[in-house]
Amino acid sequence: MNDIITTACKFVTSSIGRKILVALTGACLLLFLVGHLAGNMTIFGGDVAAGDRSWIDFYATGLHSMPAWLLWSIRLGLLAVALVHIVLALVLKYENYNARTHYQKEGTLKATLSSRTMVLTGLMVFCFIVFHLWQLTFNGDPANCYQHILHAFQQPVCSIFYIIAILCLMMHVRHGLQSVLQTVGLSTRKVRPLYNIVSWAFAIVVCGAFISIPVCVMLGILK
Ligand code: HEM
Repeated sequence: MNDIITTACKFVTSSIGRKILVALTGACLLLFLVGHLAGNMTIFGGDVAAGDRSWIDFYATGLHSMPAWLLWSIRLGLLAVALVHIVLALVLKYENYNARTHYQKEGTLKATLSSRTMVLTGLMVFCFIVFHLWQLTFNGDPANCYQHILHAFQQPVCSIFYIIAILCLMMHVRHGLQSVLQTVGLSTRKVRPLYNIVSWAFAIVVCGAFISIPVCVMLGILK
């Protein structure tokens, strides 16, 4: 038992161990994002599915009808994964910064906009999630989810805030997915351009689909 704990501690305190944990927790968050998107897309099923309830109302009430212990285990698990991801990513960033030479700190290293702004976009997504939970999870009525979302996005300030936050998420996911692929897979010169295309395509499709909801409400397509 002691050996397992010692090995686990060595893994987390090693730089490569932390990098792998950031990649794995990031991959879990991406899976959540895809699942959440699939649920959200039911909004395009219209405002009435059966009785006076829409598909997204059924989706939200379905989530809440899970046994409380299961729902809260999933939520707390997700929170733990997000915290490990954020804390270890910040530690890695700090270590990398300290390890770089003065020459590199001057900004001559070749880096993309999304890789340079990972901390900033990550913080923006974090603030967005806090607001989002307050607005839709803790102040929403799952049985009236469609109307609640519609009402929220009919306010341009709210829609614009969502669009900006999801664009930040897009940049974060783009670089994050590319890093995950490089950390857990092969990172040869040959496959690197492929990782770049896959991560751009994933980020654009997933975040574009999220953004389509406030856009369609503002254009009156969802009403
Ligand atoms: C237009 C875009 C979005 C819409 C319409 C939307 C809608 C919703 C709704 C209705 C809920 C409440 C479900 C419930 O009744 O508990 C929810 C929860 C949540 N959303 Fe979103 N969401 C959007 C984008 C996002 C994004 C981009 C993220 C992540 C970066 C996100 C993360 C979450 C989380 C973590 C929860 C809490 C899940 C739980 O109940 O435990 N959402 N969202």
